[in-house]
Amino acid sequence: MFRYAPALAVASAIATIALGCGKTDPPAETDRPVTTTTAPERDIHSYARPDEVRVTHVALDLSADFDARVLSGTATLKLQRTPSANQVVLDTKGLDIQRISGGGSDLKFALGGEDKILGRPLTVDLPPNVSEITIAYRTSPEAGALQWLQPSQTAGGKRPYLYSQGQAIFTRTWIPTQDSPSVRQTYSARITVPRDLHAVMSAEQLTPKGTETATGRTFEFRLTQPVPPYLIAIGVGDLAYRQLGPRTGVYTEPAMLDAAANELVDLEKMVTAAESLLGPYRWGRFDVLVLPPSFPLGGMENPRLTFATPTIIAGDRSLVSLIAHELAHSWSGNLVTNGTWSGFWLNEGFTTYVENRLMEVLYGADRARMLQVLDRRSLDTEIKRLGPTNKDTILNQDLSGRDPDDAVTDIAYEKGATFLRTIEATVGRENFDGFLRGYFDRHAFQSITTAEFLEDLRQHLLKGDRQLEERLKVQEWLYRPGLPDNAVVPSSGVLAHVEQDMKLFVDGTPAAAIKNSSSWSTQEWQHFVGSLPDKLSPAQLADLDRTFRLSERRNAEVLFAWLRVAIRNRYQPAMPALERFLTTQGRRKFLRPLYEDLMKTDWGKEDARRIYARARPLYHAMSTNTLDPIISGAKSGS
Ligand code: BES
Ligand code: ZN
Repeated sequence: MFRYAPALAVASAIATIALGCGKTDPPAETDRPVTTTTAPERDIHSYARPDEVRVTHVALDLSADFDARVLSGTATLKLQRTPSANQVVLDTKGLDIQRISGGGSDLKFALGGEDKILGRPLTVDLPPNVSEITIAYRTSPEAGALQWLQPSQTAGGKRPYLYSQGQAIFTRTWIPTQDSPSVRQTYSARITVPRDLHAVMSAEQLTPKGTETATGRTFEFRLTQPVPPYLIAIGVGDLAYRQLGPRTGVYTEPAMLDAAANELVDLEKMVTAAESLLGPYRWGRFDVLVLPPSFPLGGMENPRLTFATPTIIAGDRSLVSLIAHELAHSWSGNLVTNGTWSGFWLNEGFTTYVENRLMEVLYGADRARMLQVLDRRSLDTEIKRLGPTNKDTILNQDLSGRDPDDAVTDIAYEKGATFLRTIEATVGRENFDGFLRGYFDRHAFQSITTAEFLEDLRQHLLKGDRQLEERLKVQEWLYRPGLPDNAVVPSSGVLAHVEQDMKLFVDGTPAAAIKNSSSWSTQEWQHFVGSLPDKLSPAQLADLDRTFRLSERRNAEVLFAWLRVAIRNRYQPAMPALERFLTTQGRRKFLRPLYEDLMKTDWGKEDARRIYARARPLYHAMSTNTLDPIISGAKSGS
């Protein structure tokens, strides 16, 4: 197991690399990146100055008040100081800071002005020799990371629920710490909740059943691997657990447990497959928490405990690539992390690439290729939507003045993965696999930037071969908009057949004559519905719906694809299904396009507003932050 290098040593190593230590020649004039940096890249989304004082450990002692929707208690931070530093700067947003102590006395502190995106810096004066401070604080009921659910918003309907979502910069709304992915921290926690609830965290559970205390039930946790703070996560509710393998299992509400366990039977196999590709799994357990439907994401790679939407429970294990994705983050993202949010593609592009490799190992090349084709279609659609010269299509993102979360598109995922597939195809799989494994070892428990990735690629894969670097168009991939012309084009024989059937249908063949469809997989259905032309006649829509019962589909991906077709064509009979879908799950990936599509029509605007008003209390802040401007008409696209 790799040892965690002392943070300051890592910081100075990063500085040396980013300053360019002359190991490689500068790129030729025409290949110059659009953005050149001469100083180490700083994280513009954090007030912290970790090169002066750095948080290395967070110890939480918090109680959850479900009536007030508040977490309150203390956070004790361990600090690593440089000799001259006498203040530490932390990130906060909406936190009520009551008192800060260290070295046996109260410390002076100040909260700076509020920035809409970043929140407020918390500056604490540090007397000499103080390397641990304790902050007494309360969260706001509006904390962006936290969603407090009413019993009626859960599967059981009887008890409330709380969960957090930290990525990208939400952790500062519930923990006062240096909220930058470049500041890795270990953590421990004591969490007190009402007696009939169960708390879990992205950490080792020291008291699986909790211990009864005067005020409730207390659960203790610890994570000994240093992680970026966006990975600190909590879930509290009426939770049950089922073990699935030696290192794997699932938590969810009792009513969901059988279905969730059945869907995730392959969990242990996935971990083993990932290890054979990427090296040892360094986090101990890999459990999954299946959340209530309001969870804004498909999945979130919280260490030891991936959080997942209940919409992956399709009944036929057809959507488990999402779990492969979150598992892959145990290497790309959690082990090697983007040092700033501009390098988000290092997390998501690598993960999307690895996800597909895992699907190939577990379910075969046909399924993996189908998924690649579907991904590529999303990439093409995204580039078309943004425009091929839009700088948001650059892998290394320019996020000045923006919330990183507002800039999330398919680019980081799909252009990133396509870049890695292109390298793989060019240098050969064996060669690339060797590089990949080495990359995770070389940067284990570190946070790196795009420039450092490039440095590593040059050193360990390209090895001075300038022609190869040019052939790969590395600079163009990383620093220019659009899709370079050497991008590999995935193909799937299975989906090619589906396209032929789709064309026959469009040319007049009745839906019932598409005989193969009875054995189609979810991916084939996604492709069939997603490839339909923009305009269909009312008769064609009715034929499809009647024959294939598309409006009644329970598979969220297939239903989603169909609802987009329905909105595009104002197919009224699907509107009740649309309303049901929008009001019973809160996954942003599904909500945003559907609301956007509706808001683009004259007839659908009013429905969109009405449905949104009803559904908004179900949604997490991550979704409402994106949707509010769309519904208010302030934003019509992106
Ligand atoms: N880390 C992301 C979730 C995320 C993205 C949080 C951006 C905050 C900002 C997670 O791994 C992810 O990518 N989830 C996807 C599913 C995946 C299969 C593409 C999602 O939620 O749709
Ligand atoms: Zn991801």
